[in-house]
Amino acid sequence: MKTLKDKIVQEGKVLSDIVLKVDSFLNHQIDPQLMKEIGEEFAARFKNAGITKILTIESSGIAPAVMTGLILDVPVVFARKRKSVTLSDDLYTASVYSYTKKETNDIAVSIDYIDSDDTVLIIDDFLANGQALLGLLNIVKQAGASTAGAGIVIEKGFQPGGDLIRENGTRVESLAIVSSLKHGKVDFLEEAVE
Ligand code: G4P
Ligand code: NA
Ligand code: NA
Repeated sequence: MKTLKDKIVQEGKVLSDIVLKVDSFLNHQIDPQLMKEIGEEFAARFKNAGITKILTIESSGIAPAVMTGLILDVPVVFARKRKSVTLSDDLYTASVYSYTKKETNDIAVSIDYIDSDDTVLIIDDFLANGQALLGLLNIVKQAGASTAGAGIVIEKGFQPGGDLIRENGTRVESLAIVSSLKHGKVDFLEEAVE
């Protein structure tokens, strides 16, 4: 998605060979116009997938997820993060280890908001090691629902998450795939079709 890549080049800050800071439009301040375009792009890519629900994770997944839900006209659910969640009949839960933050969070979704007849599109802001996405996929599975795939705003293609999830057989649509952050520069994996 060209507008997104341009925005990353203009405003993204390369903090290290592995971390890209995008606080000015995605992780702290949010650019609503860009989020709308992102929602339109995800909606277009998944328009024939029979999506009935969008699932994301707080906090930075919510903005692109809501814009996608608005266009697909389906509800948006966000998993809540907690230090630890007591097992409960009312919640689907999963444990998510963050390699970036070196910490484990439990994530939880009320059983009220995903049904076995749902077809779920998962949306998130970043795909790095894939642990958050695996946790969300696990929650969809616990609900007995099906997953149409995942829409990711920025995938770091040099980290293992994307391959891991695709090898699992899950469709992953990333709007920008960063191939390298070396030498303070953002390189993108060029996609065949755009
Ligand atoms: P993983 O789920 O793919 O395994 O990712 P990881 O644990 O490595 O990432 C943990 C957090 O860091 C996530 O945000 C993720 O979106 C974010 N993240 C990972 N790599 C980058 C990066 O290069 N740049 C930025 N800006 N974020 C990155 P979170 O803790 O869930 O926070 P929130 O922003 O959703 O509140
Ligand atoms: Na994030
Ligand atoms: Na996130």
